[in-house]
Amino acid sequence: MQPATVLVLDFGAQYAQLIARRVREAQVFSEIIPSDTPVADIVARKPAALILSGGPSSVYAEGAPSVDPELFNVGIPVLGLCYGFQAMARALGGEVAPDGTREYGRTELTVSAEAGRLHQGLPGRHPVWMSHGDSVVRAPEGFTVTASSERAAVAAFEDLDRRLAGVQYHPEVGHSPHGQEVLRRFLRDVAGVSPSWTTASIIEDTVDAVRAQVGDGHAICALSGGVDSAVAAALVQRAIGDRLTCVFVDHGLLRTGEREQVERDFVAATGARLHTVDAADRFLGALAGVTEPEQKRKIIGREFIRVFENATAEVARAEHVGFLVQGTLYPDVVESGGGTGTATIKSHHNVGGLPDDIEFALVEPLRTLFKDEVRRVGAELGLPETIVGRQPFPGPGLGIRIIGEVTAGRLETLRAADAIAREELTSAGLDKAIWQCPVVLLADVRSVGVQGDGRSYGHPVVLRPVSSEDAMTADWTRLPYDVLERISTRITNEVAEVNRVVLDVTSKPPGTIEWE
Ligand code: XMP
Repeated sequence: MQPATVLVLDFGAQYAQLIARRVREAQVFSEIIPSDTPVADIVARKPAALILSGGPSSVYAEGAPSVDPELFNVGIPVLGLCYGFQAMARALGGEVAPDGTREYGRTELTVSAEAGRLHQGLPGRHPVWMSHGDSVVRAPEGFTVTASSERAAVAAFEDLDRRLAGVQYHPEVGHSPHGQEVLRRFLRDVAGVSPSWTTASIIEDTVDAVRAQVGDGHAICALSGGVDSAVAAALVQRAIGDRLTCVFVDHGLLRTGEREQVERDFVAATGARLHTVDAADRFLGALAGVTEPEQKRKIIGREFIRVFENATAEVARAEHVGFLVQGTLYPDVVESGGGTGTATIKSHHNVGGLPDDIEFALVEPLRTLFKDEVRRVGAELGLPETIVGRQPFPGPGLGIRIIGEVTAGRLETLRAADAIAREELTSAGLDKAIWQCPVVLLADVRSVGVQGDGRSYGHPVVLRPVSSEDAMTADWTRLPYDVLERISTRITNEVAEVNRVVLDVTSKPPGTIEWE
């Protein structure tokens, strides 16, 4: 069953995803759609409410998106935020002054005597986050002005008869401390939507949807060891049981313990049917003599597809596999322009020995979810913390963390150093504080050291602890010196080939997270 849905009309602000997440935190399902979606299409989706996001600084700017006034006549509750508030005011006959009354950043909001449903009982003056050039100087007919700020006489309004409301500020950001409460009140007290979207309901709805899609068919899923593929597979397994085959390609570029996590912990938690392919020698052979990072990536990608297709062909000999499970997440869907998710893909049948007629329909059970929601679903499905809490790890694995040629010996060295760093970070309780901490082996660099009684001529490893929200930008994490010291001492004592540990203190940009 489709849960009650709030649609966020994206006017081009960076805040649309944040708004959707805040609505979901209020336990109401929410999706983002382009602001120029025709009203008829919006109505056809039967949304429980609409939220108009922020956008360009002025409704008078050239090419600024507008709102079809018809949107307010179809009986759907609407909340306008920032630009959406002004666009709403204009569309309904209010007045927006292009007078350069700018307010940016933390601003004091004054709640009116008639505070309305959104601001009733909140402190009479409280901080909110503003970001606007123009301001609404006259509310449309039928609206009550419920708050103001120093430079915006109309900073919030409501028309409860028509279930329309708006605020000039950004309730979705953390700098508006009462913002989440205001959103919750809009959903509950203005739009009448009850909070019913929970982790349990997500699982139930997704399992139903997968059953409906796959019917009595068979599906296959490549596990990477990461969160997304594990949770996607666990959901599909719950829906269709043994008609799902999971394939795990061990390319020999994994970290210590990762294969066991998949083979032992994932299988124990889900009961999924797992087929492991031991392909380490094949990957090492293909990578022999290669030092250029892009070439390494290409080789690893190519070999992965070949091995996966061979495995699929094997499974397909026993049963007709019509579906391929993928762990696509909602931000990828939004960023690639939405779509309905009914794509089919043809396999690369010239490389893997698959029959020509194999065509998979994609099953994407995480298509509507953000990462933190995926983790919660995984935990509720009983996946262990080592899987659902796993930090990001690149698909090409340690292959891109050895600077120079990848060999079995170098992998062993890097694996040992990496395991020590991870162990110490975990026991210092720092896993949640960092985004990830690649350990990089500078295999082509040697330096002189003194270890024990003698001179050594070993390799450095680089610690790259980073803090980030989304990996697009990152800062280097200020790890406590005593933790760095323990990691350094242990690595240089316990890993024979390594005689120096260095710390990367570069932010991204200009550095990337991985070295390659
Ligand atoms: P960079 O190095 O571009 O990394 O700053 C950003 C984030 O992406 C991860 N990463 C990958 N993840 N396949 C993946 O699944 C890849 O090929 C890949 N390369 C980089 C990286 O670990 C970081 O979190």
